[in-house]
Amino acid sequence: MCLRNSVLGIASLALATLFAGSAFAQDSVKIGLILPMTGPQASTGKQIDAGVKLYMQQHGATVAGKKIEVILKDDGAVPDNTKRLAQELIVNDKVSVIAGFGVTPAAMAAAPLATQSKSVELVMAAGTSAITEASPYITRTSFTLAQSTVPMAQWAAKNGIKKVVTMVSDYAPGIDAENSFKDAFTKAGGEVLQTVRFPLANPDFSPFLQRAADAKPDAIFVFVPSGQGGAFVKQFVERGLDKAGVKLIGPGDVTDDDLLNAMGDQVIGTVTAHLYSSAHPSAMNKAFVEAFKKAAGFRPNFMAVGGYDGMHLIYEALKKTGGKADGPSLIAAMKGLAWESPRGPVSIDPDTRDIVQNIYIRKVEKVGGELYNVEFATVEGVKDPVKAAKK
Ligand code: PHB
Repeated sequence: MCLRNSVLGIASLALATLFAGSAFAQDSVKIGLILPMTGPQASTGKQIDAGVKLYMQQHGATVAGKKIEVILKDDGAVPDNTKRLAQELIVNDKVSVIAGFGVTPAAMAAAPLATQSKSVELVMAAGTSAITEASPYITRTSFTLAQSTVPMAQWAAKNGIKKVVTMVSDYAPGIDAENSFKDAFTKAGGEVLQTVRFPLANPDFSPFLQRAADAKPDAIFVFVPSGQGGAFVKQFVERGLDKAGVKLIGPGDVTDDDLLNAMGDQVIGTVTAHLYSSAHPSAMNKAFVEAFKKAAGFRPNFMAVGGYDGMHLIYEALKKTGGKADGPSLIAAMKGLAWESPRGPVSIDPDTRDIVQNIYIRKVEKVGGELYNVEFATVEGVKDPVKAAKK
């Protein structure tokens, strides 16, 4: 082959590759999924990843003529990593949506990039109220801490709990939980004796628990992020607080379905308020739990549902836009969407882009030899109370 022909050959090959690349880009919608797959929050990453995979397995990988492609990145819940990965996904991979975000600082770190690039940031795990205010492109399928905490405070005040010590991880969602508990519980006639904060990373709860016990409360209200509940409950029991008659209450992060079975029978009777229990008695949830266990090999918790519903939100928004995946079209389509989730009915508040959902009061019980959060009361259609109070 002469030189000219081979040069032409290379040029046309390059053009063909370029064309194929752009045609492919038009026919696919990429989602950058940033999760803690390693480190202390790895259970959140594992749960959400499995929820996303199950949704795609059940609903296929094509929506409105577009192939859905998920690119999973591990940020270890370190915000600097989240920011770098979000930038790479937006600039190099040209994703339409960045999703996941196992902790609040990670969700916050990506917010300026969502705004600058006009890309949807879909929060599937983190729960601080202020997150959705950090960019007009942020929406959420997880929860806010205040959403569960306010119903918990009201239930406690009505059920003989008068004096409480609050104990929270010392970062944004913990502060939200502490503030909303104090506010709602005091308004309902209760008294907060002490507010205790412990470090987020590698906490040794025992000195803090001792301090709380010394105040002789009726109950300890606790918030620890998903994954730390087992260690907290173990030290609560080791300190003999359960035997001393101190109740444990809080948002359901502490009796996380993922860890509950390993906590032991001492946790039976613990009442918490939360958005999801794997024992939620709907037909849809029963099918979801069965399919999830079969596919993933473990029980879904509230994080898994955040991932599963996040994919549903993307799929339904793409159906509405006819496959248009630019940030302004997608976020507009997401506002006001309502659907039945394995957790119950949910919707995206068109004003705040936050999720509206039922909150269930649950008690840990043994069912068929396993521990579950069994729901016994429902507060319907709860909007984030922090944003509602600002209106
Ligand atoms: C958060 O960092 O926002 C967060 C993480 C795990 C939880 C709740 C909140 O269980």
